[in-house]
Amino acid sequence: MFPLSISSLLALVQIILVFPVARGTDFRSAFSVARTNSMEGGPEMVITFDKVYVNIGGDFDPKAGLFRCRIPGAYYFSFTVGKFPKKNLSVMLMKNKNEVQVIVYDEHHHKERKVASQSAMLQLDYGDTVWLRLHGDPKYALYSNVGPYTTFNGYLIYPDTSSYFQSSSDSYKLHNSQGMTVSREASSEQNEIFKPNSMMADQPALNTDPRSAFSVARTQSLVGSEDRKTQHQPITFDTQFVNIGKDFNLSAGVFRCRVAGAYYFSFTIGKMPYKTMSVKLMKNQNEVQAMIYDDSHSKKREMQSQSVMLSLQPGDTVWLYSYGRDGYGAYSNHGKYITFTGFLVYSEETPKHMPVTNLKSEVVLTEI
Ligand SMILES: *[C@@H]1O[C@H](CO)[C@@H](O)[C@H](O)[C@H]1NC(C)=O
Ligand SMILES: *[C@@H]1O[C@H](CO)[C@@H](O)[C@H](O)[C@H]1NC(C)=O
Repeated sequence: MFPLSISSLLALVQIILVFPVARGTDFRSAFSVARTNSMEGGPEMVITFDKVYVNIGGDFDPKAGLFRCRIPGAYYFSFTVGKFPKKNLSVMLMKNKNEVQVIVYDEHHHKERKVASQSAMLQLDYGDTVWLRLHGDPKYALYSNVGPYTTFNGYLIYPDTSSYFQSSSDSYKLHNSQGMTVSREASSEQNEIFKPNSMMADQPALNTDPRSAFSVARTQSLVGSEDRKTQHQPITFDTQFVNIGKDFNLSAGVFRCRVAGAYYFSFTIGKMPYKTMSVKLMKNQNEVQAMIYDDSHSKKREMQSQSVMLSLQPGDTVWLYSYGRDGYGAYSNHGKYITFTGFLVYSEETPKHMPVTNLKSEVVLTEI
């Protein structure tokens, strides 16, 4: 008798196709590319790339300049573009045909070269495309050379595993405190796969969904004033790209840690003409973690970015503070110059047992 019949082999193949989560490496998607020459605004507005550092999953087509989503989920994108001397710079992060996500901009006429960066997390469905668009007017250009100044990165943070399981089995689903259906990921726990009893006894509580990510933007400028009451308020936001775990309160402008661990935060701010830009990343009441500053009195708009990783405990808050006095400000408009993103990189408690999502595939495997 064959140890593995044709039908059980087929069943195994089916499991692998239906439950790719059981194979951790199938949920990988990451790219990092660069452009080694400059580009002037024109009818071809898609920025293409000629240097590929990483293209895990092959989801980025450098010649076309397109990332095409293969695994639905939440992705982090960041890009840096060089400013061409004496040209304006305007590069937008696009989703599909025409949906502008965020922008970088610089309208200095200086002959110096500079770079500007922007980042955001986006929720993508299968087939969605993400790309960078250079303004089509020849007054705009981006600068790069073999050094490369112009880079574009993206990677999958949280695969949207629920879509794989919704029609399969309710045992894959958890309901978080907002009643939203979420699924747990299985990545590094395959060695625990044959411990169903200990796993059952120790199912994670509903409020310990180990996922936390937000990415928000603001479409309006901030202007400092002499009003002392408004001076210590967090920057608030009006656009939400993702808010996985609902740990970010958009109208309050505050992220509140639910899952202890190491978090990555990044933010980008537009400089307001004639105003000083001073924006700090704050932890809790008044611990400054990182900041950006520009006190040039130029009338031009430009942008600055900053990023940091912080170790947080439940209840810790993280927020942005724009110095509120007269003479200070931050610029934004519908292009979303002001962005703020954060996500859990490693939670403090490593789960001791396999996640709930492995249950079904494990059971079927033992049947074979
Ligand atoms: C850059 O943009 C500004 C504002 O739109 C405009 O006044 C200026 O002429 C532009 N500069 C160049 C070099 O095209
Ligand atoms: C968000 O913050 C606002 C303002 O502080 C508050 O009124 C609201 O209740 C908060 N929302 C949640 C869901 O906590």
